[in-house]
Amino acid sequence: MFIHRLTLKNFRNYSEECVSFKNGVNVLTGANAQGKTNAAEAIFFLCTGYSPRANKDRLVIKNGCESAEIFGEATSQYGEVSVKVAFNKNDKKSIYINGMQVLKIGEILGNINSVFFNPAELKLVQESPDDRRRFLNVSLSQMSKTYFYALQRYNKILSQRNNLLKDPDAYIIRETLPVWDMQLTKEASKIIKARNEFLTELSPLAEEKHAFLSDGKETLKMRTESGYYGTEEEIAYSMYQDLKTGLERDIRLGFTSIGPHRDDIKFTLNGDDVRIYGSQGQQRTVALSLKLAETETFYKRFNEYPILILDDVLSELDKKRQRKLVGAVEKMQTIFTATHLDRTVFKNTPFTRLVVENEKIKEK
Ligand SMILES: Nc1ncnc2c1ncn2[C@@H]1O[C@H](COP(=O)(O)OP(=O)(O)OP(=O)(O)O)[C@@H](O)[C@H]1O
Ligand SMILES: [Mg+2]
Repeated sequence: MFIHRLTLKNFRNYSEECVSFKNGVNVLTGANAQGKTNAAEAIFFLCTGYSPRANKDRLVIKNGCESAEIFGEATSQYGEVSVKVAFNKNDKKSIYINGMQVLKIGEILGNINSVFFNPAELKLVQESPDDRRRFLNVSLSQMSKTYFYALQRYNKILSQRNNLLKDPDAYIIRETLPVWDMQLTKEASKIIKARNEFLTELSPLAEEKHAFLSDGKETLKMRTESGYYGTEEEIAYSMYQDLKTGLERDIRLGFTSIGPHRDDIKFTLNGDDVRIYGSQGQQRTVALSLKLAETETFYKRFNEYPILILDDVLSELDKKRQRKLVGAVEKMQTIFTATHLDRTVFKNTPFTRLVVENEKIKEK
């Protein structure tokens, strides 16, 4: 899969811009604050319907403008596909797939797929479990709309259950909860099963990528402890029992203490916890290995690589790791952004060079 044209209107620092990408490696260079990350962000938007960095859609509208638009044209194994996202100041966004408006945000998923990585993604390894769950949710939602809709329903039921747990009337809680729990565990089981399958596929791939990038010097191991395995029915049944057993604790806490909203992934390198003992470079390599593994999972499932967006990643790796990375990604459309082009890193790889300056992106 590859995007061949991206058109931006009043998006971030761009007034009107149209840029052509080619399949294979694309390198977008430019000085600081020219709009490299903005262009990378726009592509991710077309894949998922939201920004990897802004938590409010209206922040992406060019200052002083009322509305913005991102339009992308891509080629997939099934043919041409176009996605348009239009925003206005009231955080209302409209989505068009092949020119037809879709009413549910989830319908944007699976049309153009991408894996996005930039220095802020280091939080995937360093920070809270929230960031690791977000990684799972973004990947799995792109791979399956069923997952995305189950997650939406799960979060809604979870927040209703949490509100109920705070009810001062214990009788109401005990009477009403079983109904919520049936619904909650039904959605949870879909999420847990999908995550179990994904992580079973992803872990050996991430370990392999890490060994490759570190020249076999470091052994990555990934571990998850959802605690639920088997079919959806089996997962739903065990979780339902655990919710029942944990009821008094949940009432005391005032929230639901078990379920996929509490999942985490642990990473170790040569046996040591990466979060605690890993150097910056090692943590970065773990996060990058995970993203590269994600591209392979896409390939295994759909027989097609997603678009790999590597924003400002090269400058953070040593030369050897940079060369290895470039060699490993030339089989898919990859969009690198960097302040400088180091030709020695790309010497064995054909690539398209784009330069951004004064809000304009030109092929060079
Ligand atoms: N809504 C907006 N309206 C106008 N300008 C914006 C908006 N949001 C961000 N910008 C501007 O876009 C500029 C470019 O940002 P971007 O992060 O894409 O730069 P970059 O080329 O990736 O730089 P760096 O090399 O530092 O990473 C910034 O100067 C920022 O102020
Ligand atoms: Mg940037």
